[in-house]
Amino acid sequence: MTLLSIQSASKRYGPVTALDNVSLDVPAGSRTAVVGPSGSGKTTLLRLIAGFERPDQGKVCLDGEVLANGPSAVPAHKRGIGIVSQDGALFPHLSVSDNIGFGFERGAADRDKRILELLDMVELDRNMLTRRPHQLSGGQQQRVALARALGRKPRLMLLDEPFSALDTGLRENMRKAVARVLQAAGITTILVTHDQGEALSFADQVAVLRDGKLVQAGSPQKLYLQPRDRETALFLGDAVMLPAIVRNGFADCALGKVAVDGDHQGKAEIMLRPEQIRVVPDDSQPAYHGRVVEVEFGGATCTVAVSLEGVALPPILIKTSSVALPETGDRVRLDIAGKAHVLSVR
Ligand SMILES: Nc1ncnc2c1ncn2[C@@H]1O[C@H](COP(=O)(O)OP(=O)(O)OP(=O)(O)O)[C@@H](O)[C@H]1O
Ligand SMILES: [Mg+2]
Repeated sequence: MTLLSIQSASKRYGPVTALDNVSLDVPAGSRTAVVGPSGSGKTTLLRLIAGFERPDQGKVCLDGEVLANGPSAVPAHKRGIGIVSQDGALFPHLSVSDNIGFGFERGAADRDKRILELLDMVELDRNMLTRRPHQLSGGQQQRVALARALGRKPRLMLLDEPFSALDTGLRENMRKAVARVLQAAGITTILVTHDQGEALSFADQVAVLRDGKLVQAGSPQKLYLQPRDRETALFLGDAVMLPAIVRNGFADCALGKVAVDGDHQGKAEIMLRPEQIRVVPDDSQPAYHGRVVEVEFGGATCTVAVSLEGVALPPILIKTSSVALPETGDRVRLDIAGKAHVLSVR
């Protein structure tokens, strides 16, 4: 069932088109990640859903109720939507405890207990309850903002880069903890993030914005392995692109005959994720594909650059484990796992 539906929404700020005819459905109970370069309209999209902005055109519907239809809109505080904004936006004059309890009924018997529960949920220490926001780190402020938003039991939670101020280890723990909390409470969530790995691991659905337009939306697997275009492919991770001629499910390319998805025939560009490629030492004619021109040791993941034989392409970079690394100058064969994705017709 669809909880949130955005239909052909557009928003301009003077000469800037921040959102251009964006349509997106968010299923109830799901997690959607919105990604895109800086300035692509991610925050604007969340602000439109929350009710801090009104679309110039288009509709926003939540659970069958029209929240905005062009410039006429239900005010933000009547939407039942929680938002943790990019800057946290806590009340500076209130303590952590009062920030979290803001919006609870005055004198509610279980107020203190609920504040403690929320504090535990976001893994903040209890001795922080009496502090003011300026006495917290950026990451701690974001967690207070998250606790405050959770406390209101929203129908929909909007998170605008809520983990960006945290360091890597804490970030991953928080992401998992927040995902657990939201899932347990059955709260549908939209997460904006700059971190592609975070988007792919957090979400059931990933939506890619570029220049205010929704380029593609779908499951993380679909977007990663079958991106609509080159830019989306590279935005979501490393990729190897090769010119090819495709016939009956196979591409003829610099790596020989490679199985491909889709039913395209003729000239195309194919894409492989580096982890689909395995470097195998092989100098038997004519099996080998090229020569190793550079090996970069990087701990768990190493990079091997292979210059392909007989093609005027830059060396392709393959991520590989540090076990049995080839050496510069070695002749190698490149084995492909899975199918290549046919990207575009040249
Ligand atoms: N209040 C405003 N007035 C004028 N222009 C704005 C306003 N808010 C956003 N914009 C412009 O709209 C575009 C989209 O901005 P938005 O904040 O949605 O981007 P974003 O994808 O969230 O970027 P970031 O990743 O940097 O947070 C940008 O070009 C931005 O400069
Ligand atoms: Mg933003």
